Order: sequence, then C-alpha cells, then structure tokens
Amino acid sequence: MTSTSDTLQHTLLVLPGDGIGLEIMPQVRRVAEWFRERRAVNIQIGEALWGIASWKQHGDLMPPQTWQAIQAADAILFGATGSPEYDTLPVAVRRPDQLLRIRRELDLYNNLRPVNARDMLLGASTLRPEIIRGTDMMIVRELSGGIYFSEPQGIETLANGEQRGFNTSAYTTSAVERIARSAFTVARTRRNQVCSVDKSNVIISGVFWRDIVTRVHREEFGDVQLSHMYADNCAMQLVRAPRQFDVILTDNLFGDLLSDCAAMVTGSIGMLPSASLGPLRADGRRSALYEPIHGSAPDIAGRGIANPLGAILSFGMCLQHTLALPEEEQRLVAAVDRVLGAGIRTADIAEAGQPSVSTSVMGDAVLRELERSLRP
Ligand code: IPM
Ligand code: MG
Repeated sequence: MTSTSDTLQHTLLVLPGDGIGLEIMPQVRRVAEWFRERRAVNIQIGEALWGIASWKQHGDLMPPQTWQAIQAADAILFGATGSPEYDTLPVAVRRPDQLLRIRRELDLYNNLRPVNARDMLLGASTLRPEIIRGTDMMIVRELSGGIYFSEPQGIETLANGEQRGFNTSAYTTSAVERIARSAFTVARTRRNQVCSVDKSNVIISGVFWRDIVTRVHREEFGDVQLSHMYADNCAMQLVRAPRQFDVILTDNLFGDLLSDCAAMVTGSIGMLPSASLGPLRADGRRSALYEPIHGSAPDIAGRGIANPLGAILSFGMCLQHTLALPEEEQRLVAAVDRVLGAGIRTADIAEAGQPSVSTSVMGDAVLRELERSLRP
C-alpha cells in the first residue's frame, strides 16, 4: 500500500448545509474516512452547522465559529443550500445565499464541472442514447465575478414612486484572463479544445470577455483549439450534439445555466460533482470547495432517497486537486462505476421498473467496492 501519511496533513470541513445535504454528506464522510483509514490519506475531518440547521441551533445562518472553520480549512466538502424555510426568517437575516459569500471571500473563481455520459446510465437520461453516448466534457465556469457579484446592484425607489431592481454584468481583465488560463490548461490534459461561451452579440461585457479570451489564447495557448459560441446556441447544442464539446469556458451566470442543462446528458443532476478553486498562494496551497452541482431538493429532503454519488465524486475531485492523489480519485471513480455497473441505482437514475436503493445503501455499495479494490 502506498503510504501518504508522510505528507502534510490537510483539514477537511464538511458543511452538510440544507435539505438533502444533511442526508448525502454522511455518506461522503464515510468515504473520506475510508481513504483516511485504508489508504493512509492524511486528512483531518471536521464538520460545522450551516444554513437552516445552524439558524435553528444558533439563531445565525453562518455563526462565527463556522466562518472561522471555513477560513482555516484546506478544503470544504459542501452539501447543498436552499430551503423554503428561508422565507420564514426575519427579513434582516435573509441575505443573498451564504454559499456566495464563501465563493467570494475565498476567491473560488475556478469552477470545474465535469460532465460524462456513463454507458450504464444512458437509459436514465431523457435524451436518446445515440445522442449522448461518449459525451465527456468539462465546464469551466468563472465563479467569483460577473453578474452574481458586480456592483452596483440593489432595489431602488425612483422619483415617480416605481421601484427598480438591478444587477451589473462586469468582468475585469485579470478575472477573464485567469479563468481563460484555467480552461486552456485543462484542455491540454484532455482533447485540447476550448469553446468559449458568451453573449457578445448583445452584452458589452461579453464582447470584452471574447476579446480577452482571444488574446490569452493567441499569446499563451496557440497549441489549443479555440472556438466561440453564443450562450443560447450552446444551450441548444448541449442537447442536440453534446459530444462536440471538450472544454466549455464561460462566465458565472451562463455556467450556472449550462451546467444544469448539460447534467441531463449524465442521466441525473445527482451525478455531477464540482470543484471550486482559488488562486495558488505563496505556500503552494489554494482554497477549495467541493460540492455536487444539484441543489437541496426540498421535495425529497428527509426521505433518505437522494443520490449521494455527485457529492461522493466531488470528494474524488478533492483527492485530485487538494490532496494531489489522482490515483486515489481514479480508485473512487472506478468503485462508483462498478456500483452502477452492478445495476445499483437511487431513484433518480433508476429506469422504469428498476428497483432503487436508499442514500445510505448506495453509500454501503461504494464502500464495498472500495474495499474490494484493495484485494489483488
Ligand atoms: C450552483 C447553484 C448556485 C449558483 C446557487 C445555489 C447559489 O445553482 O452552484 O450551480 O447559482 O451558483
Ligand atoms: Mg446551478
């Protein structure tokens, strides 16, 4: 067994968050603990309340101790955010989503969302198998800028008594440059193609985006193939002919929309992991948050039927990006593939007539396959 225990210890913070986050994250914890116990991965795993659960206990969506733990962690394993219960909170504490605060303050600009159509899940998609078979793309989404964060934004009262709600879509040179570099660098490890997605036919900050991406490509990544596409067309192409994409590079808002759209290629949004990374610091580390791209699913929360695989595969991305153990990520992905290959399904990926298992039984199955991976 390769020992990793001589490496520096990394602190992982589990934030189950809201809704099904509370059900899927215990399974992620079991998987992380397995790697600690059985593969000597040098991690310390903590956990903190967050969101509605934290409000109920501390009267604070993000208590100071949680915020400190977030800032101290090498990686955050995040479950989900969102709940109808937010509408019942006093207006003063109903700030924009606290997850956005984490993304912004840790400068998690670099969001990687891999989308793969697994052969054994082709039948779980609403799209025809011959359209989606073999799809393998990476969406690189800018995550700490754009219309999500730019100022000015707000709701104001006009002289005529009407109100006006507004946001600003803005990007600086350096913000586009760094996410473009990320996409080109990722492409070099794949099929070497980047499709940059914008609405430069309408939005001025999109014209700017395209200019910067084009320049970074010319100056630094001439070996990578670059194309451009409008976001509306991209949404259509994702369901029309998804195999055409290798790396999609896009801004915060389009990345949000297009990754949900692309999720249908995988059969269920419950399958998709993501990594959100900050800039490399002087000590060689970077802030990181790993989360499934699905939401809190209030409609099924509390029933123990949610698919934990997107969250488990997000921990896989942590093995690669924070812990620098790509072979261990491969071990986990292979275990998940064998579980799916054996026909084990949560409800979201079960085909008509196929039986489905609970969240924790899916966790059991992944652990069983991990254990099996150690046998010769
Ligand atoms: C995502 C989510 C978030 C976003 C929400 C929960 C704030 O939809 O990560 O895709 O809009 O970015
Ligand atoms: Mg989204």
